Amino acid sequence: MKFSTVLGALAALTTVSAVKVNPLPAPRNITWGNSGAIPVKQLKLRTDSQGGQHATLNLAWERAWDSIITLQWVPAAIEAPIPHFQPFPTGSATKRAAAKAIHNVQVTVVDPNADLQHGVDESYTLEVTDSDGYVEIHAQTIWGAMHAFTTLQQLIISDGQGGLIIEQPVTIQDAPLYPYRGIMVDTGRNFISVRKILEQIDGLALSKMNVLHWHLDDAQSWPMQMRTYPEMTKDAYSAREQYSRSDMLRVIAYARSRGVRVIPEVDMPGHSVSGWQQVDPEIVACANSWWSNDNWPLHTAVEPNPGQLDIIYPKTYEVVKNVYSELSDIFQDNWFHVGADEIQPGCYNFSSHVQDWFAEDPSRTYNDLAQYWVDHAVPIFRSSGSNRRIMMWEDIALSAEAANDVPKDIVLQSWNNGLGNIANLTARGYDVVVSSSDFMYLDCGKGGFVTNDPRYDVMSNPSGDVTFNYQGAGGSWCAPYKTWQRIYDYDFTTNLTDTQKKHILGAESPLWSEQVDDVSISNEMWPRAAALAELVWSGNRDKNGQKRTTELTQRLLNFREYLVANNVMAGMLVSKYCLQHPHACDFYYNQTVIT
Ligand SMILES: *[C@@H]1O[C@H](CO)[C@@H](O)[C@H](O)[C@H]1NC(C)=O
Ligand SMILES: *[C@@H]1O[C@H](CO)[C@@H](O)[C@H](O)[C@H]1NC(C)=O
Ligand SMILES: *[C@@H]1O[C@H](CO)[C@@H](O)[C@H](O)[C@H]1NC(C)=O
Ligand SMILES: *[C@@H]1O[C@H](CO)[C@@H](O)[C@H](O)[C@H]1NC(C)=O
Ligand SMILES: *[C@@H]1O[C@H](CO)[C@@H](O)[C@H](O)[C@H]1NC(C)=O
Repeated sequence: MKFSTVLGALAALTTVSAVKVNPLPAPRNITWGNSGAIPVKQLKLRTDSQGGQHATLNLAWERAWDSIITLQWVPAAIEAPIPHFQPFPTGSATKRAAAKAIHNVQVTVVDPNADLQHGVDESYTLEVTDSDGYVEIHAQTIWGAMHAFTTLQQLIISDGQGGLIIEQPVTIQDAPLYPYRGIMVDTGRNFISVRKILEQIDGLALSKMNVLHWHLDDAQSWPMQMRTYPEMTKDAYSAREQYSRSDMLRVIAYARSRGVRVIPEVDMPGHSVSGWQQVDPEIVACANSWWSNDNWPLHTAVEPNPGQLDIIYPKTYEVVKNVYSELSDIFQDNWFHVGADEIQPGCYNFSSHVQDWFAEDPSRTYNDLAQYWVDHAVPIFRSSGSNRRIMMWEDIALSAEAANDVPKDIVLQSWNNGLGNIANLTARGYDVVVSSSDFMYLDCGKGGFVTNDPRYDVMSNPSGDVTFNYQGAGGSWCAPYKTWQRIYDYDFTTNLTDTQKKHILGAESPLWSEQVDDVSISNEMWPRAAALAELVWSGNRDKNGQKRTTELTQRLLNFREYLVANNVMAGMLVSKYCLQHPHACDFYYNQTVIT
């Protein structure tokens, strides 16, 4: 795979010396000189201090160097000489011959002990000049230095004759726009193997994203082996489709060593039945009801299978506490996502505890019920230590059944109603992670997964069927499919005040997995998630304020090849002709039509 990708790329280029490099995400500030490429020899890492987490840094460099020498990368999709774009350097052969080779990577890390937590400094500078004979990297933390490595590994390329070169001089000052840059993997709807989860982490690290939001379970299955309640994995799909404690620790360690935090999610009280019901069926409401979307007034869930934690039954909180403490012991990140989306009132018709509670005081509403959950569950979620930050889906503060008073220090993940909900939540003072489904959901547009659906049994197309099969959602609630351009063009801070903007912590693309498993996860996730990566790292505009979506084209097409070469099985976005003929496949000839 690697070999053929590289060969294919080589064939696309007339001369390798004319190669232009275009790392993704685009650095905040990259300045090229034009004295030309110089040779890169076996690069040794030199650090001016030892101790701290230097072993982690050394391993990161070994991986970067291994990728450099294994791939002998030749940029697969180069930028075209369109006047609008800043030209890339091409050096003269004489200068190149006279240049000193690069032998070392000199890294200075100011605080080698800084922990990988939300808001850790990820900035770095990187400089290459032919007078130095080394690459110079400065970073506050090892996590910033790792980002420098993923930039450098994209800058060092094949010279076409078995050697390596780097264009120089080059000076980079880089730091992310947002501290939270992530994707979400859902292992509740379908099991995703550890191997495939690690592959997502490789994609995150290469694109400088730093959060893997792991939606561990859902109503459909409970894959995590628990010491407290071993019976919960009776609701895993099989003995093979489970995560042992050491599997989870392995994912966390792998991610950490690549600068990626793992934020676990146990979705509660909605989307909860598998696993929980094995501990005590009474802590789950409506598990055996018909989900009833064919007769909507009687619906108990928005997708099969139904089940929600019983908010009034006291034992619920005992089990929640035990499950949460055990998982908090495994997942060491300060943040923990506790779900709280899509509570369906109809489900609680099946709970005598909830019905009795309503009967006790007829003034009680479903908002009060959600508040009861917040009042009783949040103290449990806080009990794991003063550093714990709780994250929830926005529904708890914005749906028809929202709680009346959600503590302001809970981070809310916004997924509905685009800019409207972001504006609402930030105006109310909540810190927000943007995941607007109309822009960032990677699972949309594939049609429905629910079976026995007569809406597909229509012989006319398009007339008379403008709401479903033709021009409609076709069974996908968040249709259409979100393309990389749709994601990258999303200006999610539009019309926010400066105070509101400060409440945006970053963004995350979820990939819900009703129709995803090991076979397709990487193909669905990448390279679209890399468009988000650049959006939250350095933004979607050039220094004139012009949207640079069209400029991203070749960078992203190259990065897709680069992901595949690094064994992240990213999907193809265009016919290869487009990749080899920059901008030949643009819709508009005008390069500034996207504003
Ligand atoms: C970008 O880097 C160059 C070279 O270090 C520097 O002269 C310039 O001021 C920087 N630009 C910005 C916007 O920081
Ligand atoms: C629940 O009860 C309410 C009030 O009686 C009713 O409107 C609703 O249809 C019921 N839902 C289900 C799923 O039984
Ligand atoms: C947020 O939305 C809720 C529900 O629609 C509404 O009641 C509230 O006034 C809104 N708040 C702000 C600040 O927009
Ligand atoms: C932003 O605000 C302006 C002025 O109120 C309005 O015309 C525009 O539609 C808003 N943009 C969006 C995307 O809501
Ligand atoms: C390109 O599109 C922009 C935005 O619509 C427009 O302002 C500009 O005049 C166009 N340029 C040409 C050469 O048509």
